[in-house]
Parts: sequence; C-alpha cells; structure tokens
Amino acid sequence: LSPQDMRGRKVLVTLGPTREYFDAVRFWSNPSTGTMGASIAVAAWLRGAEVTAVCGPTSLWLPEGIRRIDVTTAREMFEAATAAWPDCDTGCLTAAVADFRPVPFGTGKFKKEGSTGLEVRFENNPDILFSLGQNKREGQRLIGFAAEAADLEANAQGKLRRKNLDMIIGNDVTKAGSGFGTTTNAVVVHDATGRTECWDTMPKPDVAWRIWDWMLAL
Ligand code: C5P
Repeated sequence: LSPQDMRGRKVLVTLGPTREYFDAVRFWSNPSTGTMGASIAVAAWLRGAEVTAVCGPTSLWLPEGIRRIDVTTAREMFEAATAAWPDCDTGCLTAAVADFRPVPFGTGKFKKEGSTGLEVRFENNPDILFSLGQNKREGQRLIGFAAEAADLEANAQGKLRRKNLDMIIGNDVTKAGSGFGTTTNAVVVHDATGRTECWDTMPKPDVAWRIWDWMLAL
C-alpha cells in the first residue's frame, strides 16, 4: 500500500534537458533524458502529493495524474516554474538546464555554402533554481541537483548555500552508472542542517524514494 506520506503536499519538479536553437533546425543541448526527474515526480505522486512536472524535451511517459507542462528552452522552463512555484510547498529541480544559449543567426537555416565555418556567441540563461531560492517562502522546501565532473562535495555544498536550498543531491557525471541517460545513479546528499551521506550506485527510482524520505524527515 502507498504510505500516502506526501498527501496534501504540492510538489514542483523540473526535468530533462533544455534546447536552445541557434537557427531554424539546430540547437545546443545536453544528454539528459529526464529519467531522474521522472522518478522523483512519480515517487512523490505515488506517495500522495499533487505534482506539477515542467519537462524539457523528453519522450518519457508520466502518469496522467501528474500535471505536465512541456517546454523547450530554458526561458520557457523559467516562466513555467516561476508561475507554478508560489502555489507549491516543495520544489525539486532536476532539469539539466542549458546555462548558455546561442545567439540565433536569424529565423532561417544557416547555409554551409559560401561559409568558412560558424562562430556561435552565447548569452547566459536564467538560473531557475537560484531564482526560486530567492523567492522561497517560510515553510517552502527546495531541493537541487549538482552534476559535477570534479570536486563533487565542495561544489554541491557551495550550491546549497548560494542557491538557498534545503537539500542538494550531487552526482558524479564522469562515473559509470551515474549521471546522464543511465538507469542508476551514485550520489552524495547534503542538507542545510549539515548532514551528509554518500549513496552507492542504485536505481534512480530508489534514489528518488530516499530523497523524499530524507526531505520528510527534515
Ligand atoms: O549550478 P548548476 O547548474 O550546476 O546547478 C544545478 C542545479 O540548478 C540543478 O538542480 C538544476 O536543475 C538547476 N538549474 C536551474 N537553472 C539553470 C541551471 C541550473 O534550475 N539555469
């Protein structure tokens, strides 16, 4: 039987990559599939929460009971998450948001004929997690992820403070069986009270369930 221990909670999850187009057919993105975020969303829903999932491009299925908002770019994800946040009490932002977006060449397709190469300039995208952390009310809980290729613990702890989070899940994207596109993850968890744990490689649904166990105990 479902424990229903998240009944009455309103949870916002972001998941998947974002795509940043620089002409009509080409975009900048990353290998995120949204698997970790979908596990987080489904786990909260199974435990009785009302869940809103803001999804970057992904072919993943989510149960109909989850309110799903599909977006493409970081700016669209920012708009959707910002609009949903005031009505939620818990946020878990797992999306692999593109930190930069290419400045588009126009609305058409950039032609290779007559070109000597392509120079792309990038602008900064908004940091959704940071912004939600700045607008966090008393009682709201905010969880972030940190995908790192080095100094996992120090970087994750730094982000916890800088982004005003209650909990952060660091994952090593260079390790086999962890990070992008895998069905398993190996993570370090930190919370704002100073507690830390390392979790060995395990299926993403298990990681998701334990994250909610931890959050409920905060
Ligand atoms: O600083 P960094 O991008 O590594 O932080 C990762 C965390 O911040 C993740 O939870 C991710 O979903 C979130 N994030 C965001 N908006 C961005 C960049 C990251 O919400 N533009």
